[in-house]
Amino acid sequence: MTTDLRAVINLDLPGATISRHIYGHFAEHLGRCIYGGFFVGEDSPIPNEGGIRLDVVDALRAIRIPNLRWPGGCFADDYHWKDGIGPRDQRPRMVNSHWGDVVEDNSFGTHEFLHLCELLNADPYVNGNVGSGTVREMSEWVEYLTRGDDSPMAALRRRNGRDEPWKVPFFGIGNEPWGCGGNMTADHYKDLARQYSTYIRDHGGNTVYKIAAGANSDDYSWTETLMASLACNDCSGGLSKSFQAVSMHYYTMSGAWDDKGDATRFTEDEWYTTLRRARHIEELVRRHSAVMDVHDPQRTVGLVVDEWGTWWNVEEGTNPGFLYQQNTLRDALVASTHFDVFHAFAHRVTMANIAQTVNVLQAMILTDPDSGALVLTPTYHVFEMNTGHHDAASLEVALAGDVPTRDVDGTVLPLVSASASTKDGNALVSLSNLDAAQAHTVVLDLRGGQVAGFSARVLTGGALQAHNTPDRPTAVVPVSHDGIRTHARGLEVDLPAHSYVTVSLELA
Ligand code: AHR
Repeated sequence: MTTDLRAVINLDLPGATISRHIYGHFAEHLGRCIYGGFFVGEDSPIPNEGGIRLDVVDALRAIRIPNLRWPGGCFADDYHWKDGIGPRDQRPRMVNSHWGDVVEDNSFGTHEFLHLCELLNADPYVNGNVGSGTVREMSEWVEYLTRGDDSPMAALRRRNGRDEPWKVPFFGIGNEPWGCGGNMTADHYKDLARQYSTYIRDHGGNTVYKIAAGANSDDYSWTETLMASLACNDCSGGLSKSFQAVSMHYYTMSGAWDDKGDATRFTEDEWYTTLRRARHIEELVRRHSAVMDVHDPQRTVGLVVDEWGTWWNVEEGTNPGFLYQQNTLRDALVASTHFDVFHAFAHRVTMANIAQTVNVLQAMILTDPDSGALVLTPTYHVFEMNTGHHDAASLEVALAGDVPTRDVDGTVLPLVSASASTKDGNALVSLSNLDAAQAHTVVLDLRGGQVAGFSARVLTGGALQAHNTPDRPTAVVPVSHDGIRTHARGLEVDLPAHSYVTVSLELA
C-alpha cells in the first residue's frame, strides 16, 4: 500500500462546466439493442408503453440519461426515415446489411424513438443519412420532426398521429464517412457536410446543434480538414456555422480487430493492456483539441466523442453480427477513466455517447432473450455514481507524490486516475484504482475550501472478471465505503485493489 500519494484539488478554482451530455448514450438498430432491448412490442408480457420496455426506461432515468443517439452508427447511412413512419404493418422492410444481414421491419421508427426519448426525459440526437440518403430526405426529416405549422412534413406528421413538433437539439451529419458511411475522403466529406447542413434548418423555436462526422481514433488530419473548412472571413468569430461540433470515435480492446479479446476470460496482462488503451483517450482528446484550438481558439466548436467504449469478441453462441458482450469490473474502469479525461477537457468535449445502451458492446443493461430478465452492468453503476458530475464545474486534480505506475507494453500507465467537480456547494471526487492486486491510499489535499461533511462509495468485485448475471445481478454494485478519514491536508481514502471510489464532499 502506498503512503505518499496525494490528489491536490483547489476547491475554489472551478473550471469549465462538465456538460451532462458527456453522459450520453447511443442506440443503433443492431442486434438486440432496439428490438428486445428497448422495444418489445405492445403485445409483450414485459410491462411496456407503446412497446417500449418500462424497466429499461426506469433504469436509464435513474442514471439521468441526458441524450440518446439514434438510429446508428453504420445503420444511419442505410436508413431512410420515411420507411419508419405510418401504420406499422404497412411499413416497408429493409436489409440491415451491416449488422447480421437480418430483415428490419421498421416497426421502431421516428415516432417510437421520440416517444422513447420523452419517457426517458432525454434529448434526442438524430443521426442523418449522408452515405445513401439525399439532402432533401434529411431536410424533410428535420421539418417533419420540428416544424409546427401546416408545412407538408408537419402535416404528414399530424396524419401519423403527432400534432406537436418535437424538440430535436442534436443532429448528426452522417456517420463514419471514412468507412461504413460512404468510404469518403475527408476532403469530399467536408463539402458534403456544408451542403447538407445548409438544409438542416431551425424551424420555429428548435435550434439544431449540428455534428459533423469526425475522425476515426487518431486521424488528426480528418479533424484538421473539417475545422479548416469552417474558416470564413465574413462570419462573426471568423467561423461559419455549418456545424457546431465535430465527432470522433474510439473503441478499447485488448487485442486486434480480428481478435479483440474476451469480455470475461482475460489475464492480468490483458487487464492492464485494456486499461492502457482506455487511457489513450487522453492523448486522442488532447491532440484533436489542439488541432481545433488552431482554428477555433475561442473554443466555440465542440468535440463530440459519440462512440466510445469496449469492443470484445462476441459472446459464444450469439450472432456474430449482433455484438453482444458481457461487461465486467474492467469495463467499469474503462468507463471511469474515460470520464476523468472528459471532465479534464470539459472546455472542448461537449458530448460523448457510450456504445451502446442495451445488449450491444459496452452496455448499461443486458436483457435475457428468453426470460427477458434485466441486468445492470458494472458500467451502469459508474454512470450512476457519477451523476453528481452532470453540469458541475470541473476541478483540476493533480496527482503528486508516490503515484503507482506500471510498465504496460512499453508505456508507463499511472495506476490511479482521478477527476473532480463542484456544484451547489458540494464536490464530487472520482478515484479509480487500476492496480489489479494492490490497494492504495490517497490523501485528498483539499485547498481553497472547508469540508463540512463527507461520504464515500466503492465499486469493486472479488475478481477482475466479476460481472452481473440474471442469477447474480448484484455481484458488482456500489456500496458505502468506510475507508475514509480526516487528514491534516483534508481526507485520506483507501482504494481497494481494482476498484472505483467516489467521494462526496459537503463544502462549508
Ligand atoms: O457501434 C458499432 C459500430 O461501430 C457503429 O455502427 C459504427 O459507427 C462503428 O464502427
